[in-house]
Amino acid sequence: MSDTPPKPGPLPAHVYARQRDWHGYFDALATLPPRDTLLRALSLRQGSPGHALDVGCGDGRDAAHLASLGWTVLALDSSEEGLRRLRDRLPECSGPRVRTQLATFDRMMLEPADLVCASFSLPFCEPAHFPSLWEAIATSLRPAGLFAGQLFGDRDDWATLPDRTHHSPGAARSLFRDFDILFWQEEDRASRVDPARHPKHWHVYHIVARKLA
Ligand SMILES: C[S@@+](CC[C@H](N)C(=O)[O-])C[C@H]1O[C@@H](n2cnc3c(N)ncnc32)[C@H](O)[C@@H]1O
Repeated sequence: MSDTPPKPGPLPAHVYARQRDWHGYFDALATLPPRDTLLRALSLRQGSPGHALDVGCGDGRDAAHLASLGWTVLALDSSEEGLRRLRDRLPECSGPRVRTQLATFDRMMLEPADLVCASFSLPFCEPAHFPSLWEAIATSLRPAGLFAGQLFGDRDDWATLPDRTHHSPGAARSLFRDFDILFWQEEDRASRVDPARHPKHWHVYHIVARKLA
């Protein structure tokens, strides 16, 4: 019999995200496809590929998908490791379509875009910086441009963490006063991933919206 203790299994991704352990988070989700909100936004868009921003792109599951469809992408994140993993994902043919920017939310230099993707990233913006970040996102979107992403609600377990931004349903909706909301799903439930050992209550708004022309 070996006295080596069994290796702990991988943790649910939310355990890493709570601690901002982005390497662990990227490892946990490495093989997953683009986010549903991005796919939904793409299905609602007509015409040829345009230019997209991926704000808080992580390891680039959304940015790489956009590039594979012919979009040009500016992918922004404060994690050097995330941007490195994004570049590693890109085949030679779509690599030139993606530029990266290593920046925190308060220093991101956004530019005009037809689509802003912000999957599960904006809640990690410190509350003091959120209003200017949101203003920059809304301004960068061209008329009829699409937003696809998530905000976290005030019933989420992490709403008490001081470095996170959470919104009541009304406050979240009011951010989109200059948009047509095309898809809005409010998730308010316990995590299904290992809830006994790693409980987490999720309160998340999944959003696709079009900036008014
Ligand atoms: C939960 S991950 C989401 C990543 C990716 N969008 C996805 O859907 O998998 C949150 C991302 O936000 C980034 N992030 C967290 N705090 C940040 C900050 N202050 N400035 C810029 N990016 C930040 C992290 O590096 C991480 O890549």
